[in-house]
Amino acid sequence: MIVAIDGPAASGKGTLARRLARHYGLRHLDTGLLYRAVALKLIHRDMLEDAEAGAEEARHLDPAFLSDSALRSEAAGAGASVVSSYPQVRQALLEMQRRFAAEAPGAVLDGRDIGTVICPDADAKLFVIASPEERARRRALELESRGEEVDEAAILADIRARDHRDMNRATAPLKAADDAVTLDTTTLDADAVFAAAIAIIDGLT
Ligand code: C5P
Repeated sequence: MIVAIDGPAASGKGTLARRLARHYGLRHLDTGLLYRAVALKLIHRDMLEDAEAGAEEARHLDPAFLSDSALRSEAAGAGASVVSSYPQVRQALLEMQRRFAAEAPGAVLDGRDIGTVICPDADAKLFVIASPEERARRRALELESRGEEVDEAAILADIRARDHRDMNRATAPLKAADDAVTLDTTTLDADAVFAAAIAIIDGLT
């Protein structure tokens, strides 16, 4: 069984994907971490603009690096949004994601292009959305809980900019697959999102 979860930043797809994987006994891959890892490697080499170097890093990505806490930083997220527009980087990460999805007993993958490009034959596809204001509020709460300084207006501007980049890039832009079910989480808490997702997936599989 393969479950594809796509959606914009801070839509709640990561939390949902983790809970779904546990519920169905599947493995989970947060594919944003792959782009964040490539970005961080390039930032350390001061080569964020170099698509070929990015593809090379992508081909040699050490899975152990994906648990590095630095990947959660805003800098890594912003860098990921840059390197994810490089077709060479997306291509280099494609096979790795497909291999992960194909291994028994199956997997939940969350990202931007899982239902459209990585796993077009997934058993269930969810497109998770929420208003930009609500996503900014959630991101602010998350940063506050980590003791970080929060400027909600700046977070909202960043979310809008990232949406624009993700939806308008030439390769694998963020969009719902034709057969995806859209789940709007704007007014739902995590438990309600989980319950709604289970109902959708159980109806499809
Ligand atoms: O989901 P997360 O915020 O970790 O993703 C960081 C960036 O990586 C996104 O803004 C997006 O540009 C990129 N990404 C992508 N395709 C994916 C996952 C993430 O382009 N499947």
